Amino acid sequence: MTVKSEVEIPVTDPQPEVEGVLHRRARVIAVANQKGGVGKSTTAVNLGAALAESGQRVLVIDMDPQGNASTGLGIDHDHREITTYEVLTAGISAERAITETTVPGLSAIPSTIDLAGADIELVSQFSREMRLSKAIEPLLDQYDFILLDCPPSLGLLTVNALAASDELVVPIQCEYYALEGLGQLLRNVRLVQQSLNPQLRLSGIVLTMFDTRTKLSEQVVAEVRRFFGSRVYDAVIPRSVRLSEAPGYGQPITTYDGGSKGAKAYRKLASEVLHRPVIDEAVPDEELPAVIVPEPTPEESEPQRRRLFRRKEGTRK
Ligand SMILES: Nc1ncnc2c1ncn2[C@@H]1O[C@H](COP(=O)(O)OP(=O)(O)O)[C@@H](O)[C@H]1O
Ligand SMILES: [Mg+2]
Repeated sequence: MTVKSEVEIPVTDPQPEVEGVLHRRARVIAVANQKGGVGKSTTAVNLGAALAESGQRVLVIDMDPQGNASTGLGIDHDHREITTYEVLTAGISAERAITETTVPGLSAIPSTIDLAGADIELVSQFSREMRLSKAIEPLLDQYDFILLDCPPSLGLLTVNALAASDELVVPIQCEYYALEGLGQLLRNVRLVQQSLNPQLRLSGIVLTMFDTRTKLSEQVVAEVRRFFGSRVYDAVIPRSVRLSEAPGYGQPITTYDGGSKGAKAYRKLASEVLHRPVIDEAVPDEELPAVIVPEPTPEESEPQRRRLFRRKEGTRK
């Protein structure tokens, strides 16, 4: 039986649209992959710097107790008085934790090793997964981008980042174990979507440390594109000594060596992040290969030409 409503419910336009005058709200992007050393911090710093260079107002929040993004942005320890730790655990306003960097338009909330305690301290606290999300709310209209540099784990810090984000960018290193653990990350993303943040989208995969001298790098690019299709950014970050040197000088690559290949790659990535529409599709749940096997030598037989060695990934957490 259907009941006809007696009352006429006025239909309100959910988004009073005035072209170009829409209120701008920061795009919050988590840079995550639970594997260490794949280029998360390098990407958070240099994507942030490249976006700032193109006139965007950018805030990088260091969510990793190792503080690599903070160091890469030239924030020395004397200038890390109020950090991500205090914001997450002591209810200090995020605004007070913001530190300017030497790059115009690029600010940061730094971290120190103290943040390592947050994972445990937050466990017993109310609404522990939503701490960051709540903390950055007042900042959303002050920035165009808020980038979250995640730690190499899927613990509470990463969950806080995913719960606070509109988008997820996953750096994948062009190496043999490129896809290892990615299935687990994507399962976590689906869980966060279901319970904490239905808004979260996997907006992009960025291939890092591409080595032009190895066939394997090319194979990783091809395989990752096969799996993730248009989610993979065209910009591929080359392996470059300049990129690895820059943090030692507390500078992003755009100022350390603005004409280098690494700087150009991150500018291209920034332009894609800015202009490419966010893919609004479910996170793929196909089983991913863990290993990308290098191309066989010519004398190897045809069946061995299979590029993939399918190995079951670790069991669900
Ligand atoms: N494209 C690159 N070329 C050369 N070295 C890189 C590149 N990207 C990152 N690195 C270096 O590799 C190491 C790990 O990178 P990092 O961004 O800290 O990874 P993660 O944050 O995922 O642990 C760092 O020493 C960094 O300087
Ligand atoms: Mg890092």
